[in-house]
Amino acid sequence: MTNRLEGKKILVTAAGQGIGRATAVAFHNDGANVIATDINEKTLSALNKEFPNIKTKKMDSTQANEISKFIKTIDKIDVLFNAVGFVHHGSILECEEKDWDFSLDVNIKSMYFMCKAVLPLMIKQNGGSIINVSSCASSLKGFPNRFVYGTTKGAVIGLTKSIAADFVKKNIRCNSIAPGTVFSPSWQDRVNQSPDPVKAKKDFIARQPMGRLGTAEEIAAIAVYLASDDSTFTTGTTISVDGGISI
Ligand SMILES: NC(=O)c1ccc[n+]([C@@H]2O[C@H](COP(=O)([O-])OP(=O)(O)OC[C@H]3O[C@@H](n4cnc5c(N)ncnc54)[C@H](O)[C@@H]3O)[C@@H](O)[C@H]2O)c1
Repeated sequence: MTNRLEGKKILVTAAGQGIGRATAVAFHNDGANVIATDINEKTLSALNKEFPNIKTKKMDSTQANEISKFIKTIDKIDVLFNAVGFVHHGSILECEEKDWDFSLDVNIKSMYFMCKAVLPLMIKQNGGSIINVSSCASSLKGFPNRFVYGTTKGAVIGLTKSIAADFVKKNIRCNSIAPGTVFSPSWQDRVNQSPDPVKAKKDFIARQPMGRLGTAEEIAAIAVYLASDDSTFTTGTTISVDGGISI
């Protein structure tokens, strides 16, 4: 623990598991006052049980009214970490309109709602840092069967740059992180649900040049940097944390 984030109030979405959870814990371990949100009450209460100082709130990041009602109860937010995301498997030919709409809602509209609700607070307090989770499967690189996922994660990079440009004079930074394949509960589900789980796992690992998956903690370490005052000259960028998959 280094207390790099002491005095900072941080709001995390999708904090119930995976990258969101590991990042909420890393923020907490570095001295931040963390509010962890997720749609899943069960995983949130497990987080709160393990870390009683992390406040939790059930919140659906695709619901604008729910978000703005909750943000109105918060006095300040120094850092917003947007981790919500869903992976649809398939090419454009397997992507039905409902899949397209769902992925756009969860992966990008959620970030639009969250940023729009939090920015007025950051403007009022003369600064802040927004961190959005994109992916190596985005405008950075095309991957098979990641059609709508890659589309939305490319949009996350565009949203990040636009917010960075609009609010740079207000001392508000906006960056994104593009992870490679990271071990998480939903990754495990994708493996288990594939027709041949043993092969699916092998293939995921084989496509990573380092020959292993990333850990959620390796993504969280970059998030701590972007949340901290060590990164005060960094805005509008996307940091790849991907074990070399985008080289
Ligand atoms: N795991 C990977 O390999 C990987 C790689 C690149 C990018 N990412 C991105 O990282 C982020 C986290 O992924 P992960 O695999 O670590 O976690 P995960 O997919 O296992 O967990 C996602 C969390 O989001 C929550 N959630 C889903 N819909 C929500 C909603 N509408 N409102 C609030 N919460 C909601 C779920 O309850 C869950 O706790 C996602 O944006 C994902 O696209 C993951």
